[in-house]
Amino acid sequence: MTRKVVIDTDPGIDDAVAILFALASPAFDVLGITTVAGNIGLTTVTRNAGRILALAGRQDIPVIAGAAAPLARKGFDTAEIHGDDGLGGVSFPEPDPTAPLWEGAPRWIAETLLRHPFGSVDILALGPLTNIARLVREHPAAAGRIRRVIAMGGAIDERGNIGPRSEFNLAADPEAADIVLRAGLPLVLVPLDVTRKVRATRDYLALLRRSERPPARVSADLIDAYFQSTTGGESRPLHDPCVMLFAERPDLFGIERYPLSVDLGDGVDAGALIKDEGRGAPVDVAMRVDTAAALDLLAGRLAGR
Ligand code: RIB
Ligand code: CA
Repeated sequence: MTRKVVIDTDPGIDDAVAILFALASPAFDVLGITTVAGNIGLTTVTRNAGRILALAGRQDIPVIAGAAAPLARKGFDTAEIHGDDGLGGVSFPEPDPTAPLWEGAPRWIAETLLRHPFGSVDILALGPLTNIARLVREHPAAAGRIRRVIAMGGAIDERGNIGPRSEFNLAADPEAADIVLRAGLPLVLVPLDVTRKVRATRDYLALLRRSERPPARVSADLIDAYFQSTTGGESRPLHDPCVMLFAERPDLFGIERYPLSVDLGDGVDAGALIKDEGRGAPVDVAMRVDTAAALDLLAGRLAGR
């Protein structure tokens, strides 16, 4: 079944692989790409969304710029991981200057939800949750029409990648994460506990490179850049692609429901998820994955199968 989706993203190396997967898969009808400052600034992530669409020949899909900063804090800049251009220096075309490019992501998402039947649109969130939090606060009736929000974020038992327990997307905007977790949306979190199990090795890159299809070859270049920019290890986690993999094949994942709060303090673990029997909101969290099947699906779609 083809699902209508809005992709909210801060591309970003792994975001780019995730978006190329969604564009290559018959399971998704991508209504638009909304951008949020995260891995790098809003101008760069918005340009990158246009570059990815140009590479995939999908200039028809609108790009809508969203939040340039978190709700209440200074964000992070991870150019050291994603490169100054946010895509690891990998060659992409420039955005098509005639392609639809707008501003005001929360309002655009609300209008899109109102334009489509109730419960027919999924939101695939690959970055800080600032746009989704503003949608909930400024357009609550529209937010109530969302089918599912599937968001890469957080860590349950896994160590963090910002603080000992905090993960980048939630740590970049803890207030937004708190609003989204408490909004009563049909939300599935895909945390580091699962995304660190879906890993690309150099053999996997070689497999992608055997394809003649640009999405596969460019994804190999993106992941290779990821290898260059991060230290050590024989493999790299594919965080954001796990959101699309779950959206297309939830049967490859195992879900637990936890009562969760977000650390809103100013310490090293601001944005961390807290299991909180008393005050936590019940949230579905992907905790298990059939790694081999997920990686096969990703490589197959990128290669056009
Ligand atoms: O913690 C991983 C997340 O942070 C991913 O979305 C990656 O793109 C970065 O934004
Ligand atoms: Ca991201």
